[in-house]
Amino acid sequence: MKLLVTGGAGFIGSAFVRMVLGDRKVRELVVLDKLTYAGNLENLAPVANDPRYRFVRGDICDAALVEQLMAELRPDAVVHFAAESHVDRSILSPAPVFETNLRGTFVLLEAARRNPAALFVHVSTDEVYGSLPEPLEADENFPLRPSSPYSASKAGSDLLALSYFTTYRVPVIVTRASNNYGPYQFPEKLIPLMIAHALEDRPLPVYGDGGHVRDWLYVEDHCRALAALLEKGRPGEIYNIGGNCALPNLEVVRRILRITGKPESLIRFVTDRPGHDRRYALSSRKIEQETGWKPETDFDEGLRRTVAWYQQNTGWVERVRSGEYQRYYEQNYLNREAEIRRLIRC
Ligand code: NAD
Ligand code: DAU
Repeated sequence: MKLLVTGGAGFIGSAFVRMVLGDRKVRELVVLDKLTYAGNLENLAPVANDPRYRFVRGDICDAALVEQLMAELRPDAVVHFAAESHVDRSILSPAPVFETNLRGTFVLLEAARRNPAALFVHVSTDEVYGSLPEPLEADENFPLRPSSPYSASKAGSDLLALSYFTTYRVPVIVTRASNNYGPYQFPEKLIPLMIAHALEDRPLPVYGDGGHVRDWLYVEDHCRALAALLEKGRPGEIYNIGGNCALPNLEVVRRILRITGKPESLIRFVTDRPGHDRRYALSSRKIEQETGWKPETDFDEGLRRTVAWYQQNTGWVERVRSGEYQRYYEQNYLNREAEIRRLIRC
């Protein structure tokens, strides 16, 4: 099997690349990644010397480059992770989100249309369903009600990808996963940010009342689900991928403090995220029934492994937080209330 993996230097994409190169069936794998603030070649260091792997630095919006790669490689599958993935950044600055998540996906789909043999796995999110009241859980036919620029861009790109199946018969699969966590996650997201702050005895900023519920999926479980769909997924279909572990944010933060041995006095309640979805909940029955996949990692075990990784990789954290991250951190956390008021008004 020959694979083109977009966004393979990011958190989930790199976990996927590290995992699938363990499988001898993969003959060739090309990563296409722009190396934005979230992309990091250190994440791919464990596979750097694998002769089947090649890294191409480039933008998925660059149609000529994408066409050339597709023509050269003639992949059996494109696994499309590349995205602007952070909700808070999409609120502060929506333009890059629409450029990469919508136009970039369009460019890739156009190239896939000219290479119709390639399965196109579009990696999307449970956020497209929006906030769900108890006890509802979204199956794949649930209406789309995205709240943030990020989730709206993902919902739009999901529909675009599905239209290429209906109209052009490009064999597209759309996956919608819940919140991932694990090693190598950029420390702007809840779990790695809270782990890093706890380890440094810094305040842990919880948005609103901390009662917002997310469903947590260990990144390797997500990658196994994607690998199962490469083999058994049906083109034209959507598959939810949930962790079966719904928890309020405050509970997640408390567990991190317990594992790191730090006091709850580090918790700070801060101004809520605008448009903050209260609760996500997914049904993963379809993928479970069709492929036999199930999430396997118990949350406390996954969290312990994740904390241990961040404890052992403080250099990685320091390097990814140098430079651009400081500007983002100041904008999102220092003077947060005034910044959010300003954003909503203009
Ligand atoms: P990430 O932010 O860690 O990585 C994104 C990667 O895409 C980076 O390597 C970045 O350099 C690359 N990239 C960004 N713009 C690009 C462009 N224009 N051209 C080429 N490369 C570009 O993201 P992640 O958390 O690994 O998420 C990967 C995918 O999974 C995204 O599509 C996201 O929407 C989806 N997803 C994420 C989660 C989660 O909890 N993190 C859950 C469900 C779905
Ligand atoms: O649900 C899947 C989605 O999960 C993915 O599609 C996104 O790419 C991914 O970023 C993630 O989105 P969230 O917005 O749910 O993740 P985040 O880690 O930013 O926030 C998780 C929850 O924690 C959310 O309710 C907001 C809250 N939060 C987050 C941060 C960064 C805080 O309370 N404080 C924080 O500092």
